[in-house]
Amino acid sequence: MSKEIVVSGIRSTGYLHLGNYFGAMRNYVKMQDDYNCYFFVADYHSLTTHPDPKDLKANVFRVAAENIACGLDPQKVALYAQSDVPEIPELYLMLNMLAYKGELEKVPTFKEKARNQPDNINAGLLTYPVLMAADILIHRAVKVPVGKDQEQHLEMARNFAQRFASRYGAFFPEPVPFNFGSNLIKVPSLDGEGKMSKSENANATIYLADEDDLIRKKIMKAKTDSGPTEPNAEMPPYIENIFLLMELVSQADTLQFFRDAYNACTIRYGDMKKQLAEDMVAFVAPIRQRASSLQNDEALLRKILKDGAERARESASQTISEARRLIGINYY
Ligand code: TRP
Repeated sequence: MSKEIVVSGIRSTGYLHLGNYFGAMRNYVKMQDDYNCYFFVADYHSLTTHPDPKDLKANVFRVAAENIACGLDPQKVALYAQSDVPEIPELYLMLNMLAYKGELEKVPTFKEKARNQPDNINAGLLTYPVLMAADILIHRAVKVPVGKDQEQHLEMARNFAQRFASRYGAFFPEPVPFNFGSNLIKVPSLDGEGKMSKSENANATIYLADEDDLIRKKIMKAKTDSGPTEPNAEMPPYIENIFLLMELVSQADTLQFFRDAYNACTIRYGDMKKQLAEDMVAFVAPIRQRASSLQNDEALLRKILKDGAERARESASQTISEARRLIGINYY
């Protein structure tokens, strides 16, 4: 039996952090053996905010390198830059004819972005979900690993697939969200509030590119208090977060040791943070080092992306010829 097709896009803005690792990349790595995976850097999407042309390539290469450093194997998955697959914008154009202004204007992510950048509400921003649908449908993917915030976009991709079917004939499978919902891991930020995030509060977020000492500094600054005053007390959220982070990167017996100490009111948060910092450094450093040596090997990255694009185009060109035929663009 042929493997099911999985597609996911990786934003090319911002540095990847621990939340991305546990929320997305680790799942990609788990999927690569059992699915036919197409993972790409969404560089066209990033143009909605007009990034400096000087930065674009470095961003794309960095994100690709970081994903490989986390375990993505470019032999197993097609890893490519969106802009290397011209069939994607071609399908985007076709789908734009099936996407309505009213529905696009209602999308919460559009409304939020329009609010945040009132001087740059461009058509690319409005049609962001159409491009995303094209990313997915171009490989006739059935499964798309995305976070909760992207589920509405995915629903739109299903709508466009249906509309295409009712106008031109059944062709695109309807893609469904994959995997993230069930084993969603929340990676709390170090300031006791919310999750680690790309854009907000860099001091409370551990980036995969952070140097050892910076990681230590960020962790040692995490909020604690003078400790529980009665046995088996409930944890305040900022303490629970430190335990949650420890659960992600430390050994089970280390975690248990501090849990027991907490319950016995003998815990020393300074020691706990020191331990967490060392375990975090041991976790992040190899990823950072792999990513950085890859980034220094531009020839290799270029080869990986080119090879990925070739594989992506093989699948994409089949989809496009069939879509053109169904639409009636078959003149010769
Ligand atoms: N919109 C996604 C995000 O912000 C990135 C993305 C672009 C994507 N195209 C996609 C994700 C296709 C999955 C499938 O994270």
